[in-house]
Order: sequence, then C-alpha cells, then structure tokens
Amino acid sequence: MKNYKEKTENECEKFTIREMELNDVDEVLPIANTSLLNPWSKKMFLEEVALPYSHCFLIRGENDRNKDIPLGFICFRNIGEESELLNICIHPRHRQKGLAKILMEFYIDFCSKKGVKNYYLEVHPLNIPAVHLYRSFDFQPAGKRKNFYQGEYDALLMER
Ligand SMILES: CC(C)(COP(=O)(O)OP(=O)(O)OC[C@H]1O[C@@H](n2cnc3c(N)ncnc32)[C@H](O)[C@@H]1OP(=O)(O)O)[C@@H](O)C(=O)NCCC(=O)NCCS
Repeated sequence: MKNYKEKTENECEKFTIREMELNDVDEVLPIANTSLLNPWSKKMFLEEVALPYSHCFLIRGENDRNKDIPLGFICFRNIGEESELLNICIHPRHRQKGLAKILMEFYIDFCSKKGVKNYYLEVHPLNIPAVHLYRSFDFQPAGKRKNFYQGEYDALLMER
C-alpha cells in the first residue's frame, strides 16, 4: 500500500486516529450522512459511543492551513473473541487515497491485540468500494441478511 502522505501531499501531511468522544459527534455526522444506505443519526452515534463494548475511532488530518481536518471514522463492537464492524466512512473529498485501508489496518491490529479471532460485517452487495476493501482484508462472503437496509434491501454477510 502506498502511504497516505505520499498520495495526499497537497491535502494532509499528517493524520491521527483517536477514540471518538461524545462531543465529536456533530462533526462526524456530515461525513456519516454521505453514506447513502447507512447514514447514522446523531442518536445512533451517541448510543454507540456510550456502549462499553463498542468502539468508534476518528481519523483526522492536518496540513499547513488547517491543523484539524476530520477525514472519516470506523465503529465496531467487540464481545469476547468476536468483532462486528458496524460502520466505516471516509469524507467523499478524501476517498480513494488509502484512508479506509489505514482505518481497517488499525481496526484489525486493535482487535487482534484484544484477542479477537472472528470478524463479521454486513455490506450492500453493490457497494463495490466497500466489498473491495473488505475482500482485501480477507473478509469472505458468508451468506445474506434479508431486508437488512431500511427493511428493504438484503445485505451480504462477510466474515474473516
Ligand atoms: C468504502 C469506503 C470507506 C472506502 O474508503 P476509501 O478511503 O475511499 O478506500 P481506500 O482508498 O482505502 O481504498 C480501499 C480499497 O478499495 C478500493 N476502492 C475504493 N474506492 C473504490 C471505488 N470507487 N471503486 C472501486 N474500488 C474502490 C481501492 O482501490 C482500494 O483497493 P486496492 O488497495 O486494491 O486498490 C468509502 O468509499 C466510503 O466511505 N463509502 C461510503 C460509506 C460506506 O459505504 N461504508 C461501508 C459501509 S458497509
């Protein structure tokens, strides 16, 4: 993988990943709203961030002009040896620069240090960027969840 700095020199020179706090939620919402099939509401974020077994992390960038640019987030729940990836989203202006891969690498590393052995997630089968991303992290199709999105569209279940 090319590194982030090399690919985005004109935009962000550095980035950091840190746990999301309740007062980050307003800033994250506009990014979440760009996800057409799964736009999380403020209430969903607030509930998720408050859950003891849930983790939400933000990736932020900086450049000469702006020291704190919210770029995207990842949310997941860990129980014992299992992790469910709930949501990952990158701001449209910053997509296809390797940021989701950086978040996924962070996620797998974080979970493996906590003893997670099994990972699963749901994704719309026509969400090509997301399916491509998950496949590149060894997630395999493992069935489908009927009427998962808005009670209408099936989801592809993937496991690693
Ligand atoms: C899915 C998403 C998180 C990917 O973020 P990203 O930062 O653009 O992804 P990356 O740049 O890290 O790319 C990851 C891989 O996906 C591929 N990819 C990214 N966008 C793609 C696209 N539009 N078409 C095809 N492949 C794509 C990349 O080529 C890369 O694979 P590679 O290493 O084999 O080249 C982003 O498109 C997004 O936020 N989508 C809306 C929210 C969403 O649908 N989330 C998934 C919920 S299940």
